Amino acid sequence: MYNFLLVLLSTVLCALPSSAIEGLTRQSFSTKPFSTDGRWMTNADGVNLTYAGVNWPGHGETMVPEGLQYLSVAEMVQKIKSTGMNAIRLTWAVQMIDDILDKRSDGQLGTAFVAALGETNGTKVLNAVLDKNKAFTKETTRLEVFDAIALECARQGIYVHLDNHVSKAGWCCKTDDGNAWFGDEFFGTKNWERALGFMADHGKTWPSFVSMALRNELRPVSGSRDVPVNWDTWYGNMTAGAEAIHRANPDLLIFFSGLYYDTQLRPIFYDGGFRDIDFDPSKLAYKDKIVLEVHDYDLDETNCTNKRTKLTRDSFAALGPISPKVKTVYPLVMSEWGFSQSPDQYAAPFAACLGQFLPEQRVGWMIWVLIGSYYIREGEQGKDEPWGLLDSTGTKWRCPECITKGIMPMIQNTLGIEPPVANA
Ligand SMILES: *[C@@H]1O[C@H](CO)[C@@H](O)[C@H](O)[C@H]1NC(C)=O
Ligand SMILES: *[C@@H]1O[C@H](CO)[C@@H](O)[C@H](O)[C@H]1NC(C)=O
Ligand SMILES: *[C@@H]1O[C@H](CO)[C@@H](O)[C@H](O)[C@H]1NC(C)=O
Ligand SMILES: *[C@@H]1O[C@H](CO)[C@@H](O)[C@H](O)[C@H]1NC(C)=O
Repeated sequence: MYNFLLVLLSTVLCALPSSAIEGLTRQSFSTKPFSTDGRWMTNADGVNLTYAGVNWPGHGETMVPEGLQYLSVAEMVQKIKSTGMNAIRLTWAVQMIDDILDKRSDGQLGTAFVAALGETNGTKVLNAVLDKNKAFTKETTRLEVFDAIALECARQGIYVHLDNHVSKAGWCCKTDDGNAWFGDEFFGTKNWERALGFMADHGKTWPSFVSMALRNELRPVSGSRDVPVNWDTWYGNMTAGAEAIHRANPDLLIFFSGLYYDTQLRPIFYDGGFRDIDFDPSKLAYKDKIVLEVHDYDLDETNCTNKRTKLTRDSFAALGPISPKVKTVYPLVMSEWGFSQSPDQYAAPFAACLGQFLPEQRVGWMIWVLIGSYYIREGEQGKDEPWGLLDSTGTKWRCPECITKGIMPMIQNTLGIEPPVANA
């Protein structure tokens, strides 16, 4: 099926005029520093950058980006590129950096898989990863795998956005997982700031590195832990985190997520939100680096009019200027949304609505999720991911129709480009 698609797409491409083919590479690599201009993210030449990308998790127990036992880094990036996407949201855990800086472990692959999966399975998966990725050895560190991904992305013209997904490595996100809010069991704010600065600095050698997020899906803490979850503590911690990134690497855009699993952003940009904070970027050194990010998994809202209204109220109004009460206008990216990859889902109300709304709003996005299974998730090794664009073999699209009829048109509508070369 996939080979058939390649042939089909190559044929389509050959039929395009050469100006359209030039268009394919038009969004290619840009110059640092990155900044914002009103509601746009821009490169140093003032050219708008819009993301159409995918989440690539690297925050699981192994802290190695997923899926590399089935495809090499180059093949995986090519798979992404073949859809026309231009970005990845690469997730990581603070624990990876704590291990390095507290001299517990450099995270060599030889120990990382065995530590997470046990001797027998860890060795098996390690050997499969090394077999697919000839440049890696047992001594290669997790961070060097991140380097390899970033360099390959640069080679193939894919932007890298880093996302601090969790502190303690593992599946996200519950209210009782100890990773939920600043000061939660595993979420030490000093370690978090240190790790943000470390990664921002480390990524200076990556030509593809454009932006970095502060924290994935902040959420209430359940149980008895006395952690004040509110916009005031959000403000103090988020601005401290952003300073850590900006000090280490002033070229980067910095993504701010909101409350309630990153669904509520209104008090950041709206004067008279239900709980006011004085978020005044003009006072901040990184005032022209701030991008807002939002997630949407509200599949129960099947009425697209209502979905648009809610999203506009809670996040998209930040694109302004639809109301005089919008204090400051920001770029916005929907850094997570997705759907179970089955043919009945890409045209179902949720995906169909966002498929229209995001390109129409010229809002970038990353879909959850690239890979078809996890090395380990919630205690289960090799756990299948029904939302994975890839299937459980890790090499083929799970729902080719979802890619060609749902996701690829959305990419083209978002980026305003012609269909890509599928086997670039
Ligand atoms: C780029 O941003 C400017 C605002 O700076 C906007 O007017 C323009 O429409 C954007 N261009 C594209 C191609 O989106
Ligand atoms: C090891 O992997 C196999 C599948 O290859 C799986 O069935 C088994 O549960 C794994 N062992 C552990 C301890 O999870
Ligand atoms: C960070 O959040 C915690 C709540 O968990 C709060 O106690 C602390 O004051 C916040 N830090 C700042 C600088 O606001
Ligand atoms: C969706 O909601 C709007 C009001 O919010 C309503 O006017 C419309 O009839 C609804 N559409 C459907 C198909 O239920």
